[in-house]
Amino acid sequence: MSERTILITGAAGEIGHGLINALAGQPETRVIAMDLREIPEHLQHKVDAVHVGDICDRAFIEHVVSLHRVNEVMHLAALLSTSAERAPEQAHEVNVQGTFNLLRTSAEHAQAYDNPIRFIFPSTIAIYGVDPREKYELPPIREYQALTPITMYGANKLYCEAMGRYYGRYYRSITRGQRRPPIDFRCLRLPGIISAETVPVGGTSDYVPEMIHAAARGEPCVCFVREDTALPWMMMPECVEAILRLAEAPVLSRCVYNVAAFSATAGMFAESVCEHFPGAEISFDAHEGRQSLVDSWPSDVDCLRAREDWGFEPRWTLDEAMREYIVPTVRARYGDAPAHEGATS
Ligand code: SER
Repeated sequence: MSERTILITGAAGEIGHGLINALAGQPETRVIAMDLREIPEHLQHKVDAVHVGDICDRAFIEHVVSLHRVNEVMHLAALLSTSAERAPEQAHEVNVQGTFNLLRTSAEHAQAYDNPIRFIFPSTIAIYGVDPREKYELPPIREYQALTPITMYGANKLYCEAMGRYYGRYYRSITRGQRRPPIDFRCLRLPGIISAETVPVGGTSDYVPEMIHAAARGEPCVCFVREDTALPWMMMPECVEAILRLAEAPVLSRCVYNVAAFSATAGMFAESVCEHFPGAEISFDAHEGRQSLVDSWPSDVDCLRAREDWGFEPRWTLDEAMREYIVPTVRARYGDAPAHEGATS
């Protein structure tokens, strides 16, 4: 691949951390970090430029894209599902208008330089809406099924997938003639993501990372969904690997892919956390609203297309992920958790 100038929006967030660490120092790669907040200091020296500003500000986006002659975008900035339900109109602004600003600016810039811009877009299992009564009878959901989201976040992401497909395949189809579409749009529908290094904010799948980080800090945790609630999951290193692999794949026949490593219930995670942190105190007290969101998301997704088209390959099962990634990484972060009273070790 020729020289890459990658704009990462939402760079101060969890996936931003992972991507910046993975891209830092790669040959012929410049990373431009953008976020509404300041980028943490330890990441600043790993990127080539930092811009603090709002993706809803089109002039700001235009300035950054043309200043650096960006040829690839990893658009991570978004309000996740719980935040979006608390402020739906603001979520629409950020998730839809922000994405549109970025797609439109990228398309204009690509046309000016006659060079398509690769646009990587993380979508989500929240674009699915399954009937909670059928959730556990359904086989792993395929990309074209159950596209009836019940959340603002899911609706926003599903619409942005369609907008990306439009810019990537059909842009100005009546008048474009033989010219290529300006955007090479590639999208992953992410499951719940678990990072041992950072703590998520504003998502609904946060209950698993919350219980892991609480146990590692020696703090009790009340899980806000029922013990039998299942979702598909993957670890942050697998997520970063998948984004990079999709970004580096040759021409693809489709633009939207499910990815996940395994399906597991909250109870399975709690049990595993308690095995590794014998003093952990995890209880369950379902929050009706947040539970209803998770109940509408599939318990598993079919990732065959990602495996076949660009070699998606998750690394870990739940047990392996706990042993090889989560436990050693959180222990390195917090040290050995103080044992609670009554702990067996
Ligand atoms: N992790 C996201 C959320 O909880 C779902 O993809 O909002």
